[in-house]
Amino acid sequence: MTSDRPQRLQPDQQGIARAAAILRDGGLVAFPTETVYGLGADARNDRAVASVFAAKGRPDFNPLIVHVPDWQAAQALCRFNDTADRLADAFWPGALTLVLPLRAGAGLSRLVTAGLETLAIRVPDHPLAQALLRASGLPIAAPSANRSGRISPTTAAHVVSSLGGRIDAVLDGGPCPVGLESTIVGCSDAPVLLRAGGLPVEAIEACLGRPLVLPSGEAGQPSSPGQLESHYAPSGTLRLNADAAGPGEVLLGFGHVVGATLNLSPAGDLLEAAARLFDCLHQLDAMGADRIAVSPVPERGLGRAINDRLRRAAAPRP
Ligand code: TXA
Ligand code: MG
Repeated sequence: MTSDRPQRLQPDQQGIARAAAILRDGGLVAFPTETVYGLGADARNDRAVASVFAAKGRPDFNPLIVHVPDWQAAQALCRFNDTADRLADAFWPGALTLVLPLRAGAGLSRLVTAGLETLAIRVPDHPLAQALLRASGLPIAAPSANRSGRISPTTAAHVVSSLGGRIDAVLDGGPCPVGLESTIVGCSDAPVLLRAGGLPVEAIEACLGRPLVLPSGEAGQPSSPGQLESHYAPSGTLRLNADAAGPGEVLLGFGHVVGATLNLSPAGDLLEAAARLFDCLHQLDAMGADRIAVSPVPERGLGRAINDRLRRAAAPRP
């Protein structure tokens, strides 16, 4: 790791201009979104996109989300249908990613979609993400700014500790307000929930007036590569739905529990728990916790996404 990388850029005009220039030159810039920090690259530049996969150590079949400043820019890259129109109208900018047919001639690197004919696209709501998209004039491909299979970053410090000298710069916008990745919805014939995330499924279903289909696919064959098991993992092992810590375990609590080393939300607030989840896992990692018991988290609203992340973190490691 070299000592001058990554550059820490301040969230001001100068920092944004520098970040935009690095992206236009094919460099990698981590930047805040309302969900988690993204590792940004020019989505039209193959080398830049390839360097994202390299920096993350990410399996190359796992496609990336492209970020654009508004719906109009999204329409230049993908074909929208009625479902997608409704969802974009209701929830963009925000914590929702839509998977849509890629337009021929969209000009994106093939690596972004990992060869798929569909594109995952999102309009983020964070003012710094918006400023960077507008200053660069680029569609920005950005996975979460962490090494593949590790915890998603919700602060600039998380980014630096995970990716260190592998990236050019990080635009420091403080902690991410949502703290969970975006919810991903596939908008083919019937809308499909591809990943639970920062926008509650209930809100999407209320908007569409119908339930989302859960991903099908053959047994063990994830329909979204993001459904891979063991994806969001701290170094320690997790035991879920624990009433208390057993011998040799530390407890990650939720709600009123005694003896918790850390608590996602002592008040039992799912929004607070979502915003703190990755930070707590990072902190447990930093403490060297190797056996982590986790209190039950209710399976409703953002609790679904939290439990999804926890189950992945607890899944057997490859
Ligand atoms: O909140 C977020 O979504 C953050 C911020 C930075 O925007 N990004 C993020 O990206 O979480 P990433 O790469 O860590 O997760 C993207 C997920 C992956 O699980 C990937 O497999 C899935 O989106 N994905 C991307 N393109 C897809 C496609 N065409 N079809 C199905 N799934 C796709
Ligand atoms: Mg990720």
